[in-house]
Amino acid sequence: MIYLDYNATTPVHPEVRAAIVAALENTFGNPSSSHAAGQAAKAIVDEARVVLASMLNANSSTEIVFTGGATEANNLALLGATAHIEGERRHIIVSAIEHPSVIAPARELAQRGWTVSFAPVATDGVLDLEALRAMLAQTPAALISVMHANNELGTIQPIAEVGKLARQFGALFHVDAAQSFGKIAVDVQLANVDLLTIAGHKMYAPKGIGALFVREGVGLRARVFGADQEAGRRPGTENVAYIAGLSAAAGLMRRSIDAWRDTAARRDRLQQGLLESIPGLCVSGSQEQRLPNTLHISLPTGSAREFLATLKDDFALSPGAACHSGVGHEPSGVMLAIGATAQQSVGAIRISLGLETSDEEVAATLHHLPAAYSRYLAAREH
Ligand SMILES: Cc1ncc(COP(=O)(O)O)c(C=O)c1O
Repeated sequence: MIYLDYNATTPVHPEVRAAIVAALENTFGNPSSSHAAGQAAKAIVDEARVVLASMLNANSSTEIVFTGGATEANNLALLGATAHIEGERRHIIVSAIEHPSVIAPARELAQRGWTVSFAPVATDGVLDLEALRAMLAQTPAALISVMHANNELGTIQPIAEVGKLARQFGALFHVDAAQSFGKIAVDVQLANVDLLTIAGHKMYAPKGIGALFVREGVGLRARVFGADQEAGRRPGTENVAYIAGLSAAAGLMRRSIDAWRDTAARRDRLQQGLLESIPGLCVSGSQEQRLPNTLHISLPTGSAREFLATLKDDFALSPGAACHSGVGHEPSGVMLAIGATAQQSVGAIRISLGLETSDEEVAATLHHLPAAYSRYLAAREH
């Protein structure tokens, strides 16, 4: 099996596993306890906060709130920050290509009487800054949410420019960096980011752990209520072992910038080879503003789902985005947002590489995938 679905999830890296096991075996205390066992656990949590804060160039480690993943962090950002806002500005803007974990809380706000606007992207999957500016000028917004990199296309959004607009128009700025953190630099000062989401399982930590950066001074009302862990922003005894894992994963990412460059070169070879061997293949999304590991293609004819079903024991690939591929087969919102043709949507395959994707796997993919596609097309004709 060749695994090329790292945007869906990554395996847990051995270094991360070792950090988790060490925490489970040696540091079982409750970080809120004042005795030595508790303080040892607290030290792990505090250290993880420092690691994440420094990678984001945050001002203080107290700006990091640990969560049970990116979905929770996105919900906390949108619902928690808006719950703090009084007055007339009951308007938020989210990009049209956000993950459902941003779109759904935005829709929840609409149910509660907020106005929700969707900022369009161009056909290359990159945000239309002029349209965003016009929206802000027309109706002041309390919050703008734009992801750093899109999970399906891999397109990188101009967050520094969005951050400037947010400041200029007095809006809070949330960035979902679930797919980008660790692969490309994320600097909350450069981009004027107020809230930023991190996901563990997209960067070699386990599922069910993530974090939200909350700039000091930004009001955030908790979504669950309890004791005062995470300064009351996310109560509940901390998942110390997974926080240790998240920290180890962040450290691994910090050392992997060159390795991602090699991944980008492999991805480019894969793209070139597929374009040469499958006539009419379409590559979607900006190729300049794109994550180093992601390639989004559309088959010239036929259905990606049907084709991938013929490959499911040999290749792990995703038709569109894995998170929502279980529920119905309507075109992805991202493909609609870029104005894709029906065939571009039906034929869409996301190929996402990991740090461990080898030259041999790229060669084997180039060897097998086009041949399997020819067989699929031949079978369709009978
Ligand atoms: C951009 C983006 N945001 C949020 C999420 C949700 O992450 P989690 O599974 O940690 O809740 C994902 C997962 O696919 C994602 O790709």
